[in-house]
Amino acid sequence: MSEIQRVLKTFIAYLKRPDLYPELGRKIVKNTVNRKNAFKGKEKTNSWASNEAISQQEAVSRLFGLDISPFQKDFQEILNIAARREKECPIKMGGAGALELIYYACEFTKAQNAVETGVAYGWSSLASLLSLEKRNGTLYSSDMPYLAQDGDQYVGYVVPENLKKFWKLFRFADKESLPKIFAENPVFDVIHYDSDKSYNGRFWAYTELYKHLRSGGVFISDDIGDNSAYQDFCEKNNIKTTVVEFEGKYVGVFIK
Ligand SMILES: C[S@@+](CC[C@H](N)C(=O)[O-])C[C@H]1O[C@@H](n2cnc3c(N)ncnc32)[C@H](O)[C@@H]1O
Repeated sequence: MSEIQRVLKTFIAYLKRPDLYPELGRKIVKNTVNRKNAFKGKEKTNSWASNEAISQQEAVSRLFGLDISPFQKDFQEILNIAARREKECPIKMGGAGALELIYYACEFTKAQNAVETGVAYGWSSLASLLSLEKRNGTLYSSDMPYLAQDGDQYVGYVVPENLKKFWKLFRFADKESLPKIFAENPVFDVIHYDSDKSYNGRFWAYTELYKHLRSGGVFISDDIGDNSAYQDFCEKNNIKTTVVEFEGKYVGVFIK
């Protein structure tokens, strides 16, 4: 598919979904007048993050006092099945991130309610749900479907059926999903951000999500090196964050 065909397909898919019109408007602004917003402060943050970065194992041990090695052993079978599901999925989306960090954040907080933005195949959803199911907890997720690829039906493809009863998936852009999620549940033990990567999109969502994180709860954001939104947000709110390097990218994590 050429770039023009892809843009056209996405545009037509948007037109069929009136609930996504507000996001279409924001996307047009983002990709025209606000183009540079995606990388604002990127250099500054990458140099800061590379100085700060520790491994996922180290972060889980320092912040939560937990060892990450049981995760892969205990859930080997489920993770293997999920990897097979990802391979057989006809559409391609973003892959797995720092799953242990998410799982052990839920374990550490004995999470009853977690919220995440950005689902794609559902690797991060799977990590939270594996912990939440033990306490009959709930994961609230926000995800924009992959419109150009007719990907709606495959969002969360690696999440096994038996975990879906602990999961509420809101299929809108974050700006629409998050108010709906907060109306259903106002306070969360764990927050995981992995959706709109623009500077403004992040800053808006971080601010909203942070208000709904309980004291002692864990905040995690993926790909914080894309721009300086996460670093600036932490500085503005006097938050002492840990930076995790994972597969060449940076993840931010702190306890409120
Ligand atoms: C990197 S993927 C998420 C990967 C997922 N956390 C995992 O571990 O498998 C990013 C997802 O965010 C979604 N997304 C992007 N912008 C969004 C927005 N403004 N609102 C909601 N979801 C968005 C994309 O459709 C995509 O599914």
